[in-house]
Amino acid sequence: MKVVIVGTGYVGLVTGACLAEVGTSVTCVDVDAAKIARLQKGVLPIYEPGLPEMVMRNQASGRLSFTTSLASALPGAEVVFIAVGTPPGEDGSADLKYVLQVAHEVGQHMEHYLLLVTKSTVPVGTAARVNRAVKESLSARQLIIDYDVASNPEFLKEGAAVNDFLKPDRIVAGVSTTHAREVLEQLYRPFVLNGHPLLFMDIASAEMTKYAANAMLATRISYMNDIANVCTLVGADINQVRKGIGSDPRIGKHFLYPGIGYGGSCFPKDVKALIQTGREYGYQLRILEAVEAVNEDQKKILSDKVLRHFDGDIKGRTFAVWGLSFKPNTDDMREAPSLVLINSLLEAGAQVRVYDPVAMEEALHVLGDSVVFADDMYAAATGADAVLLVTEWNAFRMPDWPRLRSLLQIPLLFDGRNIYDDVQLVKHGFIYYGIGNTAATAVNALMQ
Ligand SMILES: NC(=O)c1ccc[n+]([C@@H]2O[C@H](COP(=O)([O-])OP(=O)(O)OC[C@H]3O[C@@H](n4cnc5c(N)ncnc54)[C@H](O)[C@@H]3O)[C@@H](O)[C@H]2O)c1
Repeated sequence: MKVVIVGTGYVGLVTGACLAEVGTSVTCVDVDAAKIARLQKGVLPIYEPGLPEMVMRNQASGRLSFTTSLASALPGAEVVFIAVGTPPGEDGSADLKYVLQVAHEVGQHMEHYLLLVTKSTVPVGTAARVNRAVKESLSARQLIIDYDVASNPEFLKEGAAVNDFLKPDRIVAGVSTTHAREVLEQLYRPFVLNGHPLLFMDIASAEMTKYAANAMLATRISYMNDIANVCTLVGADINQVRKGIGSDPRIGKHFLYPGIGYGGSCFPKDVKALIQTGREYGYQLRILEAVEAVNEDQKKILSDKVLRHFDGDIKGRTFAVWGLSFKPNTDDMREAPSLVLINSLLEAGAQVRVYDPVAMEEALHVLGDSVVFADDMYAAATGADAVLLVTEWNAFRMPDWPRLRSLLQIPLLFDGRNIYDDVQLVKHGFIYYGIGNTAATAVNALMQ
């Protein structure tokens, strides 16, 4: 089967590489000519573990190719995936201009039957708009060509995207014809042989499923952050509470980690878009409004703790920030909580030295020369007044504590992800602040 994927970002590139890996012939299309030129030379635009090898392998075998020309990619194709961005518009709703552009363009160039599949995260009703856009372009050409539209939202996680695509928890497909269902069944057959479900449903439900999933995950994060903040006030330890509740199978232990708020290219925009969908239909999604509000506050929690420690005055002080990307194993800086933290520190007159194992280049585009980019985690900490752990990369999990202590001006550590053992750190002579964890505060007090 020949497949075209329009949009060669995190989702499009991973989809293209993984489909090619199981024998599908894939052409990836993108309007970004520089990105396509680099991909043609085997240079990837993103950091994603396992992806470079897969892209190169399939490029070499001739199953995966890259172009800027959708018109030249369409002949012989049976399926076109739309995997372009759907950024938030001014009111928070998903901006569909790129999706509809692609749909129009497909209608302008198609010469035979196509199954047009939205893989981008799009609100309910988008498939109908894609359908209209194709129809308009075909009527402008005075042509009648058969086509189907389907919805196939993507659930991969950046940082584990290849594995998620190859071994999906589930594949959701919204279809309105038997033919569309058969084509998708055939395409995804290699990925569901191990029993992973391919769930067919109506198109509106498929579109809604993606938002409902992301909104649920964002809700868990904000809920745990809220509970963590209360733990701090009442003298409980969120790390213990998390274990205590996560062992209940109705709750489950995954995704219960408090931190400095969710970020990335999906949760913030998808929560906003779902709230806006509710509004359009006259319904207020009160839980999600609270989820968003808690998250906005949580992004400030580490800078608030720093300011409180220094009695509100951090002018002229230097802080080492460990980790910049919105989560480990990706270089994605979109909506990264590190940016909110760094801005607050800079606004309060502090200097910031940063280190991230992978996202430094991406971060440079956003932060410019407002911060110092250090060569490694210890260089960032040298002479600093504190270390702020922001992204829980493995490289940060077991620092050489005596070395770190000797490098820091003050042995002070703010752990935005609760990855360190607070009591052990206090034994190493550090003053430790976690999220929703008062144990070390108590030990600090005892030792003073
Ligand atoms: N990133 C994720 O983890 C993730 C996971 C699941 C779903 N999604 C959804 O998938 C969609 C894509 O996300 P992403 O992170 O891959 O975005 P991205 O920004 O990394 O990539 C989008 C690509 O589309 C290209 N593009 C835009 N308009 C185009 C056009 N008219 N023709 C061809 N190419 C065009 C851009 O140049 C860019 O390379 C979004 O709707 C997102 O919400 C993302």
